[in-house]
Amino acid sequence: MKKLICITLLSSLSAISYAEDAKQAHEQTKASGVEALSPELRNLLTQEMKALQDGMMSIIPAYVSGNWHEIEATAGKIKNSYLLKQNLTENQIKELHSSLPPEFIEKDKKFHYLAGMLEHVAHNKKPELINFYFSEMTEACAGCHVKFAIHKFPGLKPVTKDKHIH
Ligand code: HEC
Repeated sequence: MKKLICITLLSSLSAISYAEDAKQAHEQTKASGVEALSPELRNLLTQEMKALQDGMMSIIPAYVSGNWHEIEATAGKIKNSYLLKQNLTENQIKELHSSLPPEFIEKDKKFHYLAGMLEHVAHNKKPELINFYFSEMTEACAGCHVKFAIHKFPGLKPVTKDKHIH
């Protein structure tokens, strides 16, 4: 019985800290994240996201038809699509670095690394690895959105204990 109480207490404690994390992440987004970017930069970010999504969606038909070459080309484009690599003015680069926290830059880097891996395994025509890296990439999309784009995708908000799911 004691053990049961202990477990219940522990799990409700971790639910609280999870909710706190989400709240903190949300406040961070507001204070220093994308919502602080100038309209020009934010617009560039949106364009890049849409291009990313188009690229990712084109991979499914290519995968099911064994068009490895197309996957390689698309993954290569995604890999090189760094917002940070576009023709930005010096001030815009400064703005990006001061508005976006290091964790954002890290997540972006990791994502582009995965795109490079996808390019590589598509070049080697390895379907099972293509599938693996593709799914790692979709996880990386959602992983960044849950931290930095909850305002855009409220459905990603972690479910807290007081919400009932039926
Ligand atoms: C490093 C962080 C990061 C990664 C990785 C990332 N996104 Fe995003 N994404 C964002 C942020 C931040 C926004 C919200 C931008 C805003 O509010 O202006 C966003 C917004 C979007 C949007 C909405 C654009 C609009 O119409 O406003 C789409 C679609 C999208 N992302 C798709 C993707 C896909 C698909 C991937 C993966 C292949 C991906 N994103 C990876 C950070 C990321």
